Amino acid sequence: MDKIVIYGGKKLKGEVIVSGSKNSALPILFATLLTDDPATIKNIPSLADIETTVAFLNFIGKKTVKEGNTVKAYSSDKYKHIAPYDLVRKMRASVLIMGPLLARLKKVNVSLPGGCAIGARPVDMHLDAFKKLGAEIAVEGGYVKTFAGNGLKGAQISFRFPSVGATENILLAAVLAKGKTTITNASCEPEIEDLAEVLNKMGAKVTGAGTKKIAIDGVDKLHGFTHEIIPDRIEAATYVIAAAITKGEIIIKKVIPQHLKSVNDNLKKCGLYIKETKDTIFVKWIKSLKPQNVKTEVYPGFPTDVQAQWMALMCLLNGKSCVEENVFENRFLHVAELQRFGADIAIDGKTANIKGVKKFSGAPVMVSDLRAGAALVLAGLAANGKTTVSRIYHLDRGYDMLEKKFKKLGADIRRIRN
Ligand code: EPZ
Repeated sequence: MDKIVIYGGKKLKGEVIVSGSKNSALPILFATLLTDDPATIKNIPSLADIETTVAFLNFIGKKTVKEGNTVKAYSSDKYKHIAPYDLVRKMRASVLIMGPLLARLKKVNVSLPGGCAIGARPVDMHLDAFKKLGAEIAVEGGYVKTFAGNGLKGAQISFRFPSVGATENILLAAVLAKGKTTITNASCEPEIEDLAEVLNKMGAKVTGAGTKKIAIDGVDKLHGFTHEIIPDRIEAATYVIAAAITKGEIIIKKVIPQHLKSVNDNLKKCGLYIKETKDTIFVKWIKSLKPQNVKTEVYPGFPTDVQAQWMALMCLLNGKSCVEENVFENRFLHVAELQRFGADIAIDGKTANIKGVKKFSGAPVMVSDLRAGAALVLAGLAANGKTTVSRIYHLDRGYDMLEKKFKKLGADIRRIRN
């Protein structure tokens, strides 16, 4: 398995271009199943999860090819209605196959996704909502078997928690249901708005995306589309923090600053110089930063996907701070690895209490999940000496050319292929 080796202590300086959003591209790729017309999706990042999804769509019967950063999906004669464990276990977002296939085939059998490093991550809200839309659900042999013989019918759906995936799955199903569907306590993430924009380009009638209340008037048929994926706000936030943790200065390009406002607002409170324009963020470390407490929340609050990266930075600031994780029940797996650099962190339930230390010493560390991996790379970039990061396949799922982009910013970083 590949590793990343870093000799830390270099101040990063230069420009970085943000890739397309993984978490926007995935539901939009699944949306191509809602039509037999061709679709062209641009600004697709080159990531393992994208390759997994393209392979999955081809397995299901939707001919899909990726050429550079563009994916073209073509018509298909016949779709399979089964999503096997060996595909679903690789990527939890595979559950997004349910909405479109229930809408088109009126049936779909999906292997339960299983947990992952950051928690059990059940799909109960997805299934309860499909039932409300008229589907029958049976869980047997590790598969969720769903059937809607009379087709899906619009319904009023309210989520106990604004789940991103459940909101996306219901959008993907309700656009072809008979009648009107409303979703209350919907996820407000930018990726939801991007998906809704695509669905409306296809001829759907979705209103309210980006707010907690979304309405969908079902239509009979959807047509093809061309779309450019929004920039990846989590990747962008990772580079903002990289400038802070290495005391450097970076211009981040092709970004929507509003999408990471909560992160940048908190970093400004720490004393980091940040200047935003319409599509760039200029970050410059000008003085020692003060630690800042954060609590992760759904958008527009502080994103859980930046929690680990933030924690790495807080560990190197003079003073105490705490990070509260409110979205996932087990998203502190990076703490033990940060402690190997010399971090002083004590976990108390859903809160990590951090005491800043003067420096990190490079160490061999292991990635447990995608964003934890980003935190370990950031720690290695700031540490004195050599850091070896293993299990970087997690990183390859969500960061496009990570080590190349950091190398271009002046980091001493390279991938060792094993
Ligand atoms: C999406 O995951 C993202 N993944 C995650 O990004 C992100 O961390 C998460 O949203 C929160 O923002 C993609 O978009 C592909 P949720 P998702 O449903 O949809 C619980 C990354 O690093 N829940 O909003 O799976 C769940 O267990 C990844 O790019 C239920 O209990 O997240 C979690 O505690 C990591 N029942 C909370 O809700 C359900 O039916 C939020 O999950 C669904 C979710």
